[in-house]
Amino acid sequence: QKAKKIKIAIDGPAGSGKSTIAQNLANLLNINYLNSGALYRIIGYYLNERKIDPKDSKIIENILEKLNIEIKNNRYFLDGKDVTITIKDSKIGDLASLYSKNNIVREKVNQIIKKIAEKDNIVVDGRDIGSVVLPDSDIKIYLTASLEERAKRRWNEEKEQKANISFTEILEEIKNRDYNDSNRSIAPLKPAQDAIIIDTTNLSIEEVLQKILKIVKESGIYG
Ligand code: DC
Repeated sequence: QKAKKIKIAIDGPAGSGKSTIAQNLANLLNINYLNSGALYRIIGYYLNERKIDPKDSKIIENILEKLNIEIKNNRYFLDGKDVTITIKDSKIGDLASLYSKNNIVREKVNQIIKKIAEKDNIVVDGRDIGSVVLPDSDIKIYLTASLEERAKRRWNEEKEQKANISFTEILEEIKNRDYNDSNRSIAPLKPAQDAIIIDTTNLSIEEVLQKILKIVKESGIYG
């Protein structure tokens, strides 16, 4: 007999801090963490390398059938190759956003997430986890922050590696990504009806984590 697994969904726009928060939360609760954006990034990267038209569902379906994505110890493998670092690039994030509009791509990612969530206790972060992929999640958090604050965080992260990147460029990148993710026809970025919305503009990572831990405690999912 299978015990029901714990599912925690953390959704939000680019730069809202959801990956950092979700990863830390999973560590603190000693459960698994799954970054759904990484799955979109892997697929976006792969399809782009092959110059596949994001609207060509037939070819995409064919390719995705054979594509082998594995996750081990928070590292992401594409056909056996560790692509965890490669896919972090913001250009790959844009490709992920572009190809994520295709429903075949979304179905593939959702299938992977659902399969993992069936067998493990898990924290999943993304755009549509609480609203579409795992609507029966025990806890749904929607993290947000002002555009300026999110751009500031990204800039602080990226300026070390990319010496030439300006704050304005990053701000524009995030603005575009928000627009694309919020306005696509399938599963656009929006809080689930029953999500708890946390505005992190003026909060530290530690403060956000404490808020969520309190919600977890009060939910009673840990008995
Ligand atoms: O969270 P991220 O920046 O790694 O996500 C990259 C892109 O993938 C994001 O801009 C849109 C897409 N995505 C999505 O459509 N649904 C998700 N649940 C996660 C990501």
